[in-house]
Amino acid sequence: MLRVLVMVSGGGTNLQAIIDSVKSGDITNAELVGVISNNYGVKSLDRAKNAGIDACVVSPKDFPDRAAFNQGLLDKVNSYKPDLIVLAGFLVVIPEKMIDEYENRIINIHPSLIPSFCGTGYYGLKVHEAALERGVKLTGATVHYVDKGTDTGPIIMQKAVEVRPGDTPEVLQRRVMEEAEWKILPAAINYIANSGC
Ligand code: GAR
Repeated sequence: MLRVLVMVSGGGTNLQAIIDSVKSGDITNAELVGVISNNYGVKSLDRAKNAGIDACVVSPKDFPDRAAFNQGLLDKVNSYKPDLIVLAGFLVVIPEKMIDEYENRIINIHPSLIPSFCGTGYYGLKVHEAALERGVKLTGATVHYVDKGTDTGPIIMQKAVEVRPGDTPEVLQRRVMEEAEWKILPAAINYIANSGC
């Protein structure tokens, strides 16, 4: 059984897709051992609670500086003894020490077809605003391993999504989530849980 820790910052629709996939059997050989949020009061925490998954907050506001937060985050991560860490809308830069300790064991979902619209400053709705601004006709989502760069790690899965005339960033974001993110993130976890890599 792969011990999976999910890290979140907000609404947690990707977390929900993972929870639902474990329940339905679309993800096998994996158990959700915990959820860590860097923000208090977010819907992700309710989703974890409703699913009976241990959840906690590690907020930078509770630490004197970034170094202390990074250590606190790593200590909390270690306490779950995870085999795989899933960044499901976790909008915090991962401490280098954590990347070293969990090399090839951290994955991230990004709401574009990497290498388009990724890197520093591209997160959440900003990604879709940039895609519409550029006028691309196809966008999508990517699951990749996390390395020390921003969205530069090896790609595991991608899925393309059509951009339609009249799309707003919000409408496009929702379509990318529904048609790509909520499918490929659970699929990537299932793949890792069953491939022994
Ligand atoms: C998702 O669209 C995810 O791809 C994105 O944040 C959103 C979180 O939504 N992540 C990034 O932009 C990372 N660079 P959720 O909380 O509903 O899953």
